[in-house]
Amino acid sequence: MERTLAWDDGAIIAVDQTMLPFHYRTVRLITVNEVVDAIGRLVIRGAPALGAAGALGVALSARLHSANGALDRAAVRADAEQIAGTRPTAVNLAWGVERALACLSAGAEAVLVEAMNMLDEDEQVNRVAAGRAADYLLEVCDRRPLRVLTHCNTGRLATVAVGTALGAIKELAARGQLEEVLVGETRPLLQGSRLTTWELAEAGLQHRLMVDSAGPAAIAAGMVDCVVVGADRIAANSDVANKIGTYSLALAASRAGVPFVVVAPESTQDLLLARGADIVVEERSPQEVTHLSGQPVAPAGTAVFNPAFDVTPADLVTAIVTERRLIIPATAG
Ligand code: MRU
Repeated sequence: MERTLAWDDGAIIAVDQTMLPFHYRTVRLITVNEVVDAIGRLVIRGAPALGAAGALGVALSARLHSANGALDRAAVRADAEQIAGTRPTAVNLAWGVERALACLSAGAEAVLVEAMNMLDEDEQVNRVAAGRAADYLLEVCDRRPLRVLTHCNTGRLATVAVGTALGAIKELAARGQLEEVLVGETRPLLQGSRLTTWELAEAGLQHRLMVDSAGPAAIAAGMVDCVVVGADRIAANSDVANKIGTYSLALAASRAGVPFVVVAPESTQDLLLARGADIVVEERSPQEVTHLSGQPVAPAGTAVFNPAFDVTPADLVTAIVTERRLIIPATAG
C-alpha cells in the first residue's frame, strides 16, 4: 500500500506502525473503538496521519450510525469527541475530526467524501511544502551536499503520503543535494530507529542512527548543516510542539548557528493558542520508559516522567515552512 491510510468498503485500512521495521502489515478497522485503540497505541501516528485518521473515524461512525436513511448525529458527535480526545497534542487530530463533522448534516456519504478529499489534500500539501522546504534549505545552507539531522518520524508513515520534514529531505536527495541524514532514535517508542531508518533505507538514502543525546553533540561537532523536523502543534507566536527531544536539538542548533527548520502543513497551526505554554503535552504510560520490549530496564516501582512532546520557543526556530508560506519567527536568532 503506497498510502499510510485508505478506505475500503466500510473499513479504515492503516499501515500498522507498531510492527515496523520487521513487518509491513496493514490493519482493518471496522469500529470506532478500534480506531481509538489504533490511535492510542500509535498504530496510526504522526500529526497529519492523525488528522486523516480522525476524519475517516468520523466517516466510519456516521456509516455505523446510519439506518433506514436516518443518521444518529448525537451518537456520531459522541464518537467524534472520543476520537479527538485520544491524543491531545497534535492539533491535526481535532482538526480532521471537526472538518469531517462539519459535513454531518449532509449525511454519512458526504462525511466520507470529505474525509477522502482530506487524504488527497494531505498528499498534495506535503508535496508542495517539501519542495518549498528544500528550496529554503538550499538557500540558507552553504555546504553541498547537505548533512541533515532529523528527529522522530515525519515521512510518508506520519502522513498520508510524502511526509513533511522527511519529505523535504527526500526532495533534497532527489535534487542530488543530500549527503547524509543523522537520525535520533526517539526514545521511548523509537519512531526514529524503527520508522525513519526504514523509510530512508527504502529510499536508498545515506543515514546513521544515533541515540537522542548524541544529537546536540553532533551539531556542536560541526557534523550537521541543518536540523529539519516536523510539528504537532504550532502556536500563534510560532512556538512549536514536536516529539520530545526536539527542544534540545533547537538549543544546540541555535548555539552552533545551524538553521533549525520546521516543515508542517497549515493544519498544524493553532492560531487559537497564543503561545506554546498553552499547548497540552500528552504524558504517556510509565511502562514505555521502564520497559524495553516488555523487559524491565528500571527497578520496579520507579516513578517516571514521560512527556511525548516538548515545546521549542519561536526564538530558536529559524523558519517554519508550510504549503502556503515561509514563516520566519520575528525573534529568531
Ligand atoms: O507520537 P508521534 O509518533 O505521533 O509523534 C510524531 C511527531 O512528533 C512528529 O514529529 C510530528 O507529528 C510531525 S509528523 C509529520
